[in-house]
Order: sequence, then C-alpha cells, then structure tokens
Amino acid sequence: SQGCKLVGCGSAVPTLKVSNDDLAKIVDTSDEWISVRTGIRNRRVLSGKESLTTLAVEAGRKALQMAQVDPDDVDLVLMCTSTPEDLFGSAPQIQKALGCKSNPLAYDITAACSGFVLGLVSAACHIRGAGFQNVLVIGADALSQYVDWTDRGTCILFGDAAGAVLVQACDSEEDGLFGFDLNSDGDGQRHLNATIKENEMDNALGSNGSVLDFPPKRPSYSCIKMNGKEVFRFAVRSVPQSIESALEKAGLPGSSIDWLLLHQANQRIIDAVATRLEVPPERVISNLANYGNTSAASIPLALDEAVRSGKVKAGHTIAAAGFGAGLTWGSAIVRW
Ligand code: ACO
Repeated sequence: SQGCKLVGCGSAVPTLKVSNDDLAKIVDTSDEWISVRTGIRNRRVLSGKESLTTLAVEAGRKALQMAQVDPDDVDLVLMCTSTPEDLFGSAPQIQKALGCKSNPLAYDITAACSGFVLGLVSAACHIRGAGFQNVLVIGADALSQYVDWTDRGTCILFGDAAGAVLVQACDSEEDGLFGFDLNSDGDGQRHLNATIKENEMDNALGSNGSVLDFPPKRPSYSCIKMNGKEVFRFAVRSVPQSIESALEKAGLPGSSIDWLLLHQANQRIIDAVATRLEVPPERVISNLANYGNTSAASIPLALDEAVRSGKVKAGHTIAAAGFGAGLTWGSAIVRW
C-alpha cells in the first residue's frame, strides 16, 4: 500500500487587526488581563469583501504552489470548518475557486478546533486505503461571526484565519504519518457550544412536547457559550494523554519530537501540555499572540509560519494536537 507525506503548506488571514486595546473599548477588559491569562495580543477579523472562502482558497493556492502541484492534479479537497458559508458545506465552492478542472471530490469536516487534525488523518486514510494521490486539507474558521461581542469571557479569545496542507501519496518507506489518536466526548458539549437557540429548538420539536408545529420555523444559532475553566482542565488533561498514545502507536519516544504544535487556544494551555510532556519551550511552536484562537485554522497557520521562517525543516518530526468543541481532541505525529 502507498504511504503519504506532507509536501506543501499555506495560510491566509484577514487584513483587519483587532488589538486588546481595541477590545477594551467595547468590553470591560484590559491588554494586561488578556495577555497574562491567554498570551493573546492581536487577532484578525473578517471585514469588507473578505470571506472564509476567499481565505481558504488563498491558503490552498499557496500550499499547491509550495508543493508545485497543479490544481487539476488534486483529487480530494477537505475543508475543515465549523463556520461554512453554506449550510450544506463549502468545500465544493473552494474546489471551483481553485480552478480544479478535474472536479475532485470535495467535502467539509465539522469538528471545531480539532477539525484540522481530523482532516489530516482522513487525508492519510483516503491515500492509504483508497488510492487518492493529492489531498488538499484546509482548516478555516471565522468564529468572529458567532462570538457574543458583549461577553468579555469569550470575545477576547477568537480570530479568523485559514491554513492548508497538501498531503501526497508516496512509497510506503517514505510515509510521513507515524501515528495518530482521535477522540470525542459528547458529554462535555455542555462546556463549549453554539447550539440552535433553546426556544427555537422547542418550537421545532413541538411547543408542548407532543403537538408538532407545522410548518417548522427556521432556527438560528446562539453565540459561542463556554465554561473556560472546564475547557482549560479538559485540554490540559486530555492532550498530553492523546500525544502519548499517538507516540506509542508510532513506536517513537517523546524525545523524537522536534516540534510540539498544539491548537493555539491559550498560551497557558500550551505551556502546561509542554511541561507534562517534558518538551522544552524552544521546541514549542506558538503564534497565538498575533492571531488568537483561530479554531480549525490554528495548526496549519502556525505550521506555515514556522516552515516559511525556516524553523521547521524537511525531516523534522512534529507532534500536532487539536482540541475543542464537541468535545473532540486528537493528535498526529507527522514528518515535515
Ligand atoms: N477581562 C477582564 N476580566 C475578565 C475577562 C476579561 N476579558 N474575562 C473574564 N474576566 C473576569 C471574570 O469575570 C472573573 O471575575 P470575577 O472573579 O469577579 O467573577 C475573573 O476574570 C476570572 O474569570 P475566569 O473565567 O475564572 O478566568 P480564567 O482564569 O479561567 O480565564 C479563560 C478565562 C482565559 C477563558 C481561561 O479559562 C481559558 O483560556 N480557558 C480555555 C478556553 C479555551 O481555550 N477555549 C477554546 C477551546 S477551543 C474551541 O473549540 C472553540
């Protein structure tokens, strides 16, 4: 069977920069509180003619350019997002905008901040099990559209972005996905969600529980609701276990990790996970100071920056881990 390897990456962010001081003008907060508790200083927010699709296409195009692969040679586009512009999915729109004349298969993966890791593993499974050759995995989210901008506990955290990686078939000896571990726990959904508004849910189910209102009204989603302390605890407990499990499946020791690349949610989570895994700070990738939590985009965005700045070099081993709403979490040990 064939193996798979990462051959290109790219990213794109909106032009509008929103600083902590900008946020202090709309909610009761300060640059000091935000940077001490989260490590975040700035984030980018969609504005004007930008859209999630334009960012995703730009990130995808850059990944293809780096890999020197023609859009026509892509046979699968995976769009990992929880904020698609079309309820039915946005991947086919990206396929079209990238100009893939071969009309590759394209579909969305919805798994919040774990979306990119799930996409990466899905790409590998399609290549190894079904003979796909070039899979473009895009992680992109615009959570700014679902944030309550009056809630200082959540609006300070998120930013919008897109990142992409091209995963390509190769000889099995060159295989670059060494091991992975994926999990979910619906019980934890109560700690982090953006569900259909409760009163509208009742309506859809029948207002007195037995009589169905017909025709049903179109429901709308509430803003992101989060118990920050519970999410923090979950991340610090689950992510090291997941990475250890992926390393074990790969048959690799922790010392083989050149780079720890976690979903960029909070610097304190990143530091705590690195400490538990005994990975020294100089081997931890972090760029959330500039972009905040960009959900499914954060891992490929940080990877792209680290590759283009020359930090991550060919042959390096990366332990990547995503975690977030669902709850979902997972990790993958990959070679760049
Ligand atoms: N500015 C000033 N004060 C604030 C702010 C703010 N932006 N936000 C909260 N506070 C106040 C609270 O009101 C509270 O005040 P009180 O003591 O008077 O009641 C106090 O600060 C402490 O609030 P906590 O929520 O307990 O603060 P905590 O130290 O837990 O930090 C934070 C909050 C930063 C959200 C932290 O819990 C965290 O990062 N959790 C993880 C969240 C995360 O990563 N979520 C994303 C998951 S990924 C995804 O899937 C979307």
